[in-house]
Parts: sequence; C-alpha cells; structure tokens
Amino acid sequence: MLIKDFEFTLKDGRTAIIRSPRDEDIQGTLDYLYKSAGETEFILRYPEECVKYTAEAEKALFERMNESDNETMLVCIVDGIIAGNCQVTWSKNIKTRHRAIVAIALCKDYWNLGIGTRFFQELIRIAESNPEITQMELDFIEGNTRARALYEKMGFRITGMKPNAIRLKDGTMLNEYSMVREVKKLFG
Ligand SMILES: CC(C)(COP(=O)(O)OP(=O)(O)OC[C@H]1O[C@@H](n2cnc3c(N)ncnc32)[C@H](O)[C@@H]1OP(=O)(O)O)[C@@H](O)C(=O)NCCC(=O)NCCS
Repeated sequence: MLIKDFEFTLKDGRTAIIRSPRDEDIQGTLDYLYKSAGETEFILRYPEECVKYTAEAEKALFERMNESDNETMLVCIVDGIIAGNCQVTWSKNIKTRHRAIVAIALCKDYWNLGIGTRFFQELIRIAESNPEITQMELDFIEGNTRARALYEKMGFRITGMKPNAIRLKDGTMLNEYSMVREVKKLFG
C-alpha cells in the first residue's frame, strides 16, 4: 500500500518527510538496519544478523509492501538520511484480519524528535481507514520506557507479558510486553 508523501517539523526545527519507500532508499535503509541494530537492545536483531538484508531483498520487500493491500512500510527521511521506518501488516485470514500488527524503529540520532508520534498518527489513520481492522497490536521489551511512553500516548495499553521472551548475548533474560489499541468496534 502506498501513502501520500508528507512533511512535518521535528522538535529541533528541522523538516522531515514520511513516505512509502523507493529504490533510492535501499542503501539508506540497509545502513539504518545495521546501525540501529547496534544502538539498542530493544530491537530484535544484532548487527551481524543483518547480512540477510541485501539490496535485492530490500528492493523486493519495498515492492511487496508498496503493492500489497494488507501491509505497508513507511520511511522517515531527515536531511536526506533514512532516520527509520515503521510497518503495519494484517492477515487476510477471516479469523485474524481484524488485527493490525505494528513495528517501528529509528536510529538513535533521531530519537525523541517526534518521528515516532508522527509515524503512529499515520499508522492509526491507515488502520482506521480499513473497515476490517478493529485493533492494533505491538510488543515491546522490558525496560523500553521511551517506546512504552509513546505507545501509551498513542492509546495502547498493556494486555500481557511473555516471560523471558528475549535473551541477550550476555545471557540477560528480558520479558516482552504486548499492547493493544482499539481501533473501532464491529460488535456491541
Ligand atoms: C521507541 C521509538 C520508536 C520512539 O520514537 P521517537 O520518535 O523517539 O518518539 P517521540 O519523540 O515521538 O515520542 C517519545 C515520547 O516519549 C517520551 N519519552 C522519551 N524518553 C522517555 C523515557 N525514558 N520515559 C518516558 N517517556 C519518555 C518523550 O518525551 C515523548 O513524549 P512527548 O512527545 O509527549 O514529549 C524510538 O525511540 C526508537 O526507535 N527507539 C529504538 C528502537 C525501539 O525501541 N523500537 C521500538 C521497539 S518496540
């Protein structure tokens, strides 16, 4: 699914663009995937696990996301650099197509500038414009207070916890929390 490009002003006064990914974003996205993986334990990949992200794979992913009717990816660009991206996807199966699953990550240089908030406003708009979707869902790792604060601000609430879902390289075990945001009610 493609979205219409739009600009907005970051908390530091710079202008950012959010839009669907294009071929010209492939290298910037590879750089972002690798860099962000080494900047926080709160995303699910380590830098050495990024070898599977090749230019060909990203090109195919962008095409799939842009042409799909049940998933979309958005990128945020600041001063020509890919600051991060977010995705929303939902199943085509009758039993689960009301659930929109969300993921988001930014490089550290771009945290706390309002990009996550603007990404979520757009993801919520996409979910609300789909009559099938009644809830948005995401997970976050124990200790990710910034993410939790953003998600609660955007209307998500914690619905459960999976113990020891994450094991870091040093053996630390962390819980993972699930959150849900109601989009609209079909029943009652
Ligand atoms: C989590 C993440 C997506 C948030 O995006 P962001 O652009 O930094 O978020 P925003 O700037 O829009 O909003 C963050 C909010 O949290 C608040 N906040 C920041 N740090 C906080 C903290 N430690 N505790 C509580 N609130 C905090 C900010 O004040 C802001 O709220 P406000 O807009 O009301 O002032 C981003 O920081 C990121 O990519 N982090 C690393 C990867 C990651 O954790 N991804 C999510 C995996 S579940």
